[in-house]
Amino acid sequence: MISEVTYGDKTFEVFISQEEIQVILNRLAGEINDAYADISEPIVLISILDGSFIFMADLVRKLSVPIEIQFVKLKSYEDMTSRGEVAHLLKLQTSLTGKHVLVVEDIIDTGLTLEVFSEELKKQNPLTIKICTLLSKPEVHNDIIDIDFVGKEIGPEFVIGYGLDIDEAARQLPHIYRLKIG
Ligand code: XMP
Ligand code: MG
Repeated sequence: MISEVTYGDKTFEVFISQEEIQVILNRLAGEINDAYADISEPIVLISILDGSFIFMADLVRKLSVPIEIQFVKLKSYEDMTSRGEVAHLLKLQTSLTGKHVLVVEDIIDTGLTLEVFSEELKKQNPLTIKICTLLSKPEVHNDIIDIDFVGKEIGPEFVIGYGLDIDEAARQLPHIYRLKIG
């Protein structure tokens, strides 16, 4: 395992190994399969690009409930601090009226992205909206939104790998790394 990686002047250390990610994925998929066990029509999974593409791809292959897949591209982040606004770079291409919707996010930091996006989804009158995130930073978002499926709660640290980037680099790392302090 490559235990440390460097981008510019920043060094990152392994935080969540790919083995631990697999354990998390299996548990999350089990929770989702159970939650939707009685629903026969496909659930619309909406992946928020770019960061969640690997998580989404791994998660769907563990789901036994029928699904459809949609992608949106929202951006609320530049460098390592939140900008406090959400831009739609790729919009949803389908109607959600009368559908069960599950939003798949890589990481919830301030919660702003999902707070704004959930309000927009509600306008389409889906039957249900649930949220699944691989990582959550509760000390940052203070539970301003309800998260239905959480892979792992982490502190207010900056993480990369497994889809998460630092200035678009590092997304292909199989493990999740965190900024090394000191
Ligand atoms: P908010 O603050 O709206 O932000 O919940 C969610 C989006 O911000 C990005 N984000 C991160 N990206 N490492 C990253 O590579 C991080 O530690 C991190 N924290 C937030 C991410 O795109 C997420 O969708
Ligand atoms: Mg993201």
